[in-house]
Amino acid sequence: MCGIVGYTGKKQAKSILLSGLDILEYRGYDSAGICIEENGAFALCKASGKLERLREKSQNHVFSGTCGIGHTRWATHGAPTEENAHPHLSSDGSFSVVHNGIVENAEALRAMLKEHGFSFRSDTDTEVVPQLMQYFYRGNVQEAFLKTVKMLSGSYALGAMSTYEPGKIFAAARESPLLVAKGADRCFVASDAMAFPLEDLQIYSVEAGELAVLSKNGVLFQNTDGEAITKQPIQVERECIQHDKSGYDFFMLKEIMEQPAILAKLAQTDMGKLSLSDELVQSVRCVHIIACGSAYHAGLAGKRFLESLAGVPTFVEMASEFRYRSPILEKGDLVIAVSQSGETADTIAAFRYAKEKGAATLSVVNVLGSTLAREADGVLYTDAGPEIAVATTKAYTAQVLVLYQLSLHLAEKRGRISLEESQKLKEKMKKLPQKAEKVVKQAEEIRKISEEIKNVNHIFFIGRGADADTAAEGALKLKEITYIHAEAYAAGELKHGTISLMEEGTPVIAIATQKALYDKMRSNIQEVKARGARVYAFTPDAQIAREADYALYLPDTDEHLGSVLAAVSLQLLSYYTAIGKGLDADKPRNLAKSVTVE
Ligand code: F6R
Repeated sequence: MCGIVGYTGKKQAKSILLSGLDILEYRGYDSAGICIEENGAFALCKASGKLERLREKSQNHVFSGTCGIGHTRWATHGAPTEENAHPHLSSDGSFSVVHNGIVENAEALRAMLKEHGFSFRSDTDTEVVPQLMQYFYRGNVQEAFLKTVKMLSGSYALGAMSTYEPGKIFAAARESPLLVAKGADRCFVASDAMAFPLEDLQIYSVEAGELAVLSKNGVLFQNTDGEAITKQPIQVERECIQHDKSGYDFFMLKEIMEQPAILAKLAQTDMGKLSLSDELVQSVRCVHIIACGSAYHAGLAGKRFLESLAGVPTFVEMASEFRYRSPILEKGDLVIAVSQSGETADTIAAFRYAKEKGAATLSVVNVLGSTLAREADGVLYTDAGPEIAVATTKAYTAQVLVLYQLSLHLAEKRGRISLEESQKLKEKMKKLPQKAEKVVKQAEEIRKISEEIKNVNHIFFIGRGADADTAAEGALKLKEITYIHAEAYAAGELKHGTISLMEEGTPVIAIATQKALYDKMRSNIQEVKARGARVYAFTPDAQIAREADYALYLPDTDEHLGSVLAAVSLQLLSYYTAIGKGLDADKPRNLAKSVTVE
């Protein structure tokens, strides 16, 4: 989703801003721009579409300035045009602003500003911000910025500059991540730590109610009353991700292939270090898992583990819905937020709501130092390394494995399983990476299936038990990156309605890793075949494989973890289908990696 970068220092800002935007590209965007202050005026360059266009356009101007801001925009208010791209300037050209989030009262502010003679160039909510700064300016930019921020409702991360005070960037944030970094003779601002150069920097998070003023001499933090505040630097993950596809054509394939190694590392995790008190672990009344998209599907797997192993009633909630149905949260409830980025706006909002209601909180996140990691009572890192492809792969399987280990830990601590039994399950879990390795080695087999399905318009994914959750994840992945309409169904539910859609040649992916459900799954496969469906079975079971039109043999494993292996094979299926269709597997249309608006 939208990305912010800013730099003030001694070097020319242009290439620093463009490099930062390059790195933020993975978040998803549809236009971009930079604004650099030069000799008391702003030089602005914006382009719709890919960053290459911005790079090309920016060749037409020298851009000698050393202080600037840049932005990648994922359209919310107004089409992805050049006019709507950020940075936005005030009417008199003396204020320039980049913004992530949504100004919810933009319409009212626009109307007020128009009454005072301001005219607007874009359809964005953001344009009110530089205009308000101009409106409030009485000789002090910081004051104008503070007054502006106080007028805004909704979420924002803002970077602003003014020609009245060259060399300074003003930053503020609410419910949208924003980091500032201080180096020798330079400061940076960005919505994602990865956009900072890999040099010695002190990094700070800008929290609600705070204002940061950056100059080449350092950064000053203030509260909204203008009083100076002292902040501690934070630890965040910064790796050079820019061109590191390790020889693969796409990050998605690289990330799929990394899974055996990540699962092996995670299988060694010591849950004894869990920062929740033993008392809480033993007394948890019920768990609410809140998450979005694939992380929600990982949550569904978590529910099965927590209930079957630890005996803890578990509810899995789509974070975007959680607050709107008056959830019952009581003492002894544990809320677990599951998120790769740790910055998903819906998940953060649901999580904060649960915290306000007094629930204990735990987050299962991938990005070190992200908002959900910082704000939870306890954190379990999925430790999968930076995930760049928009569609999650390695972070998803890592989430499932971490939730499995958490469930084993709770089961032990609560006396639901003996140490011996737990040890046996852990031994089986340690074999999972080898088995995942076998799955990724079947890439060519999977690619052949992708050739068969790449031109269909609709496809069904079915499974029972844990495989029904994996079916949902498989369908999401396929829709996301291949644009094929895919529908996931609990196989036993088909006959209650959806089976009416089966006709000659309808492709059905049948996932069957749960031994106890093989017989039932066979019946469901027969039901769809009888109506003409073409069935592709993903299973370790020879009999199911024989009944299908095409089978991909999965390694046999523990009933709890078989669906992880199925998920890996389905990721490869989506990847090869996208490639077969000539699509960009890393950057599917309309999607963003980090969804920072609700
Ligand atoms: C699907 C996908 C999304 C994310 C969802 C949550 O492949 O990547 O559905 O899972 O947007 O994102 P995080 O995990 O960052 O909270």
